[in-house]
Amino acid sequence: MIIIKTPEEIEKMKVAGKVLSDVHHKLRDFIKPGVSTLEIDSFVENYLRKRGAYPEQKGYEGYPYSVCTSVNDEICHGFPTEYVLKDGDIITVDMVVNVDGWLADSAWSYEVGEVSKEAKELLKVTREAMYIGIEQAKIGNRIGDISHAIQEYVEARGYSVVREFVGHGIGQEMHEDPQVPHYGRAGRGPRITEGMVFTVEPMINMGEKELTIDDNGWTARTADGSLSAQYEHQLAITKDGPIIITDQGDC
Ligand code: MF3
Ligand code: CO
Repeated sequence: MIIIKTPEEIEKMKVAGKVLSDVHHKLRDFIKPGVSTLEIDSFVENYLRKRGAYPEQKGYEGYPYSVCTSVNDEICHGFPTEYVLKDGDIITVDMVVNVDGWLADSAWSYEVGEVSKEAKELLKVTREAMYIGIEQAKIGNRIGDISHAIQEYVEARGYSVVREFVGHGIGQEMHEDPQVPHYGRAGRGPRITEGMVFTVEPMINMGEKELTIDDNGWTARTADGSLSAQYEHQLAITKDGPIIITDQGDC
């Protein structure tokens, strides 16, 4: 069941979204060679608590950390560890921010120092794919229109779309209906209506789409060891098109 949100509820999620986008702004400077992924986790947690926000992922279905930090071939749900980032790595930081019970969810991929031309291109195409999907998030379209637009864009550039993880409705719960796959057929799936709030969060691999899960039961990584990137925004559907709740203003 898709829970439609009122304009007042959307305003509350925008408050959480502003805290979240401010964190991502801070991470642009914080993430550099020499920083460990555990340091990113505590940096985010401290910042959120200072702003009166809670890192919703912590304790969610037993997830032990405030953020997911997925480095290089890790697709998503990477655990923060003592691993120290080095020049040329890429890292996705994903988090869900709770302010007064209302949630905002956004993941962003970052370059660590100087990265290869190939890695830069993967990040660029993944970010563009997210925005191409978001353009389809308008009243009257169907969820499959988002899915299809992303898949077509990504595969035309020689990359692959992860199937096992999808975008999702969100509000007072992290995962609500509808599911938003990043592959599929146009014209299929639920119709997009005013007041829907959901994420678009393609995970894109440089090589094949297949993945494996680490022994920790969470971390997904590419089966072929290729790099993977992800960008995620949370949208609210209005008559005037989608509002990006987790917008960072300049990218
Ligand atoms: N924020 C992610 C999502 O889009 C991942 C949640 S994982 C968990 O759903 F750690 F919170 F469980
Ligand atoms: Co999400």
